[in-house]
Amino acid sequence: MNNYKEKFEKMRNAGNLAARTLDMIAENIKPGVSTDEIDKLGYEFIRDNGGFSAPLFYRGYKKSLCTSLNHVVCHGIPSDRALNDGDIVNIDVTAIVDNHHGDTSRMFCVGKTPVKAKNLINATYEAMMKAINILKPGIKLGDIGHEIQSYVEEKGFSVVKDFCGHGVSTKFHEAPNVLHYGKKDTGIELLPGATFTIEPMINSGKYEVKVLADGWTAVTKDKSLSAQFEHTLGITENGYEIFTESVKGYHKPPY
Ligand code: MF3
Ligand code: CO
Ligand code: CO
Repeated sequence: MNNYKEKFEKMRNAGNLAARTLDMIAENIKPGVSTDEIDKLGYEFIRDNGGFSAPLFYRGYKKSLCTSLNHVVCHGIPSDRALNDGDIVNIDVTAIVDNHHGDTSRMFCVGKTPVKAKNLINATYEAMMKAINILKPGIKLGDIGHEIQSYVEEKGFSVVKDFCGHGVSTKFHEAPNVLHYGKKDTGIELLPGATFTIEPMINSGKYEVKVLADGWTAVTKDKSLSAQFEHTLGITENGYEIFTESVKGYHKPPY
């Protein structure tokens, strides 16, 4: 992959806009705010800052971001549902800037969060960061999955298997699939210039999920809580770059 520097510059711009969108949203999370209101805030912020929201019109999706509450694993659709005290919610933003995608999500806590939910959120964030910290040329995709799976299963949580991270650049979703479970030293090797997401979905109960009749909303089968964080990343000559780092230090709750 020669001359990936130009691609990285564009990924940096797209990733930064997605991260700043979540920073703005963090300051607007409170009981009573509906997920549709969050969707509108995200749509307008991305548009006003020179980007376009990738989910909007993607495979028939009609909103600008995903809002996954409590036992929703991913792809929760914004609605008139208001955030309530004690809710946990993942907000997943993907911005397109100059034809490149920045894809990132964080968990948010509404009002007072039960300790059990906080523990799940912390473990999910740490699992993602453990996987990110090993990134460098020559590591294999299975190494990423192994970091995440071994860490969260030790804590009694489970890794969702039906959804994974993905290559991302000029396409929203491209090869390779980045599984959040797996064995060390298996799968394809990562090389400088590779750009992809790591986005573990971790359940407090069993790993099984089902998709609701709307065709999008994925929930835990046992109705246990689920958490997720996501970064868009690139492999460099000797390590990695996170394209979607918070500008305001809003890495994980409390923000
Ligand atoms: N942002 C999600 C991901 O991490 C994909 C959302 S697709 C949508 O890959 F259409 F639901 F927005
Ligand atoms: Co993604
Ligand atoms: Co995403």
